[in-house]
Amino acid sequence: MTTAAATAVTQLRSEALAALEAAPDQRTLDAWRVEYLGRKGKLTGVLRGLAELSIDERKAIGAAANALKIELEAAYDARTEELRHKSISEALEHGKIDITLPAHPHRRGRLHPVTQTLREFLEAFRSMGFSIVEGPEVELDYYNFEALRIPPDHPARDMWDTLWVDYEKDGRRPMLLRTHTSPAQIRIMEEHKPPIRVAVPGRAYRFEATDTTHEWMMTQVEVLAIDEGLSLAHMKGTLLGVMRRLFGSERRIRLQCSYFPFVEPGAEVAMDCFVCSGAGCATCHGSGWIEMGGAGMVHPEILENMGIDSSRYTGFAAGMGIERLAMQLYGVPDMRYFYQNDLRVLQQF
Ligand code: PHE
Repeated sequence: MTTAAATAVTQLRSEALAALEAAPDQRTLDAWRVEYLGRKGKLTGVLRGLAELSIDERKAIGAAANALKIELEAAYDARTEELRHKSISEALEHGKIDITLPAHPHRRGRLHPVTQTLREFLEAFRSMGFSIVEGPEVELDYYNFEALRIPPDHPARDMWDTLWVDYEKDGRRPMLLRTHTSPAQIRIMEEHKPPIRVAVPGRAYRFEATDTTHEWMMTQVEVLAIDEGLSLAHMKGTLLGVMRRLFGSERRIRLQCSYFPFVEPGAEVAMDCFVCSGAGCATCHGSGWIEMGGAGMVHPEILENMGIDSSRYTGFAAGMGIERLAMQLYGVPDMRYFYQNDLRVLQQF
């Protein structure tokens, strides 16, 4: 093959391979492929020119050109692969990380002390067969007061300084931020027939000045049990069981006569101080007792109003404040610390 056509093929080969070697990236490679191997490319041009050659030359040049085509395609594939590896190792080199550097410290979250206390308290009730349910914080006057035997102008309303959301006007029913979780009693009796055993955690609000043991918002747990033959003894046993589980097996509780319109009889519940066991100390302010909340036997009139036969069923209810328990459990001297959200305080629990 000494003809001009043969020389052209040899030249084309070295030119193409040199250009391929010099191609720095995939875009240049693509252009190279079009230029040499494309339908209008240089190699196709050589093959087209075959028509003008003699038969013998045509055979020889044709074979050489086809071999070149196969060679160039393989070279193209190899170069493509080479460039791919190069860009990967460049990226690795570029984004190299020093795995010996110390990591950023993880900041660990924790549950709020009131949430921790609430969960332990609810778990104690759950283990005694109570279900946990919730009710609305914005409540109707009907559930918060009237259905609990506290009609408008009843003096007992003074026990709960109320934050009103909407006074009665234009025939609309008055709404408020619930002052206790007791409205849940009514909502449960509306929906369920005895036997009933529920514990209702939730927030309650009072229009009150704050001090070390009072907040305008607090967490309460309402307890309601209705069944045949329930008595004050069941109520006391239940509350005592829960308090012993939380504060130690030697705890005692005290029921003192009290008045709530929705229970009869009603009681104020206290537990002997778990620091001094009743002798009197700073934790219990010298009294030996820690106030836990109100309780009593569900008023038969309420049972009847809710369609429950009071000659067959009796029930007990209790409402307890969780912040006070949390203060005792964690030795927090001021209730207001809980909701000031000072991390230096909250991180200690
Ligand atoms: N709801 C009452 C209060 O918050 C407490 C209570 C609950 C009393 C259930 C009796 C029965 O003051």
